[in-house]
Amino acid sequence: MASSGLISDTEQWKNLKAHVEDIKKTHLRDLLSDDNRCQSMLVDFDEILLDYSRQQATPETIHKLFQLAEAASLKEKINRMYSGEHINSTEDRSVLHVALRASRDAVIQSDGKDVVPEVWKVLDKIQEFSESVRSGTWVGATGKALKDVIAIGIGGSFLGPLFVHTALQTDTEAVESARGRQLRFLANVDPIDVARNITGLNPETTLVVVVSKTFTTAETMLNARTLREWISSALGPSAVAKHMVAVSTNLTLVEKFGIDPNNAFAFWDWVGGRYSVCSAVGVLPLSLQYGFSVVEKFLRGASSIDQHFYSQPFESNIPVLLGLLSIWNVSFLGYPARAILPYSQALEKFAPHIQQVSMESNGKGVSIDGVPLPFEAGEIDFGEPGTNGQHSFYQLIHQGRVIPCDFIGVVKSQQPVFLKGEVVSNHDELMSNYFAQPDALAYGKTADQLQKENVSPHLIPHKTFSGNRPSLSLLLPSLNAYNIGQLLAIYEHRIAVEGFIWGINSFDQWGVELGKSLATQVRKQLNASRTKEEPVQGFNFSTTTMLTRYLQ
Ligand code: F6P
Repeated sequence: MASSGLISDTEQWKNLKAHVEDIKKTHLRDLLSDDNRCQSMLVDFDEILLDYSRQQATPETIHKLFQLAEAASLKEKINRMYSGEHINSTEDRSVLHVALRASRDAVIQSDGKDVVPEVWKVLDKIQEFSESVRSGTWVGATGKALKDVIAIGIGGSFLGPLFVHTALQTDTEAVESARGRQLRFLANVDPIDVARNITGLNPETTLVVVVSKTFTTAETMLNARTLREWISSALGPSAVAKHMVAVSTNLTLVEKFGIDPNNAFAFWDWVGGRYSVCSAVGVLPLSLQYGFSVVEKFLRGASSIDQHFYSQPFESNIPVLLGLLSIWNVSFLGYPARAILPYSQALEKFAPHIQQVSMESNGKGVSIDGVPLPFEAGEIDFGEPGTNGQHSFYQLIHQGRVIPCDFIGVVKSQQPVFLKGEVVSNHDELMSNYFAQPDALAYGKTADQLQKENVSPHLIPHKTFSGNRPSLSLLLPSLNAYNIGQLLAIYEHRIAVEGFIWGINSFDQWGVELGKSLATQVRKQLNASRTKEEPVQGFNFSTTTMLTRYLQ
């Protein structure tokens, strides 16, 4: 590493910068005609196939990226994460979400203590509790079974569980085990979200799970008070004990709120919010809905990738390769965005979850040592399932800006449909698009081709596609709880790889604090104006004008 400690000052970074000129002389059309190159860009692990041959990269690029990984001490950083070192240095914490899905007999230390027994103690408690609710042993205040669950939480205490829930909803095993039950998520402090969540539910048959790592998040605590009121006004204050449980690292505040600590499910400060879906944050609501065994399968899937990421050489390590390719696209080719395009409606909440994991983790301006970065870290993530996205923003990706795309496909649909007399199923139709889009982006269409097709000359510029637009394809065998866990862990680790290379702290989130404290100031003003008719003061002209109008 260079003496500045910045990766951008290393020879390896500079070599890659220089290499960009070589790559600019190539076109994916030509790169894809080299079968040996394409063969070297395939990775097959546990029936997951990664094809990155449509990246603007040659074997030389990949070699240089491995050299960069070495310069960034990537392997050492991964090892430090797994061994529980305090790699989240600004918060002085370990980063051990891998321990959340470790097998019972694994040993993972944090601060000299094996955390796996604590993890399993909570998992066992969740299993017992969720089974008692699902079987009707644990009933509500009026003796009725609790068949509906509202999970209150925001950010990392919401997006991951919502993604997994949405993905499981149509999995046959999960459908069977969720029969007659509902799981809803209340995240936004907007009263509309409250109304949408309670509409059609009866407090007598509803269990509310308050999910908050800190148990101080303003939105979650207000929503928790609102639903506590909803329950106690219908069933009396003592009903809260039967109808509200919590997931948090702050059990003191849970008790202060009025939830029995016996009905609280702990997790630990070594679990970052956006990496918490495999803790009680996700496991409790999902077990209530689908049963513990389905969720355990999900954890096993994530764990299989944890082991792969830890032990596989970089050449065939899916999260490492994905992370390095993102670095190549963002920091060298200058493409700041990434489109996440799952060809599965079940994955419709995948991109929103990854948005948080990626953008909250890597949207940083300084190195882990506090040195301002001379390059931009982080990337802009967005996405929609195919084929819906094709009819929305793909135009820009094909002929406007260059945005590297992740195409995620599944061999076997969760819900196949075959129409009589038609050979191609709905799923085949969907997947035809999954296979076609990467080639359309890579090859494009030239003016020559259009001329040969007798396209009228004035339309040729409009119908020309430059091509040479990078993508990668991930093909999963199916989409069950196990594969969903794998997909989650692939992206979690990919994002960590990017942060390790950029040399930033991917596990803090100071950038969200300023907005929160300014909101506190506004809240105080609203309170003072509403209760004592105090005029708006202490804000700039613009905010004063807007606030005054709002209060009128
Ligand atoms: O606003 C950012 C954040 O701190 C996230 O990192 C976190 O997942 C979310 O808020 C919710 O926090 P908590 O789980 O403590 O309520």
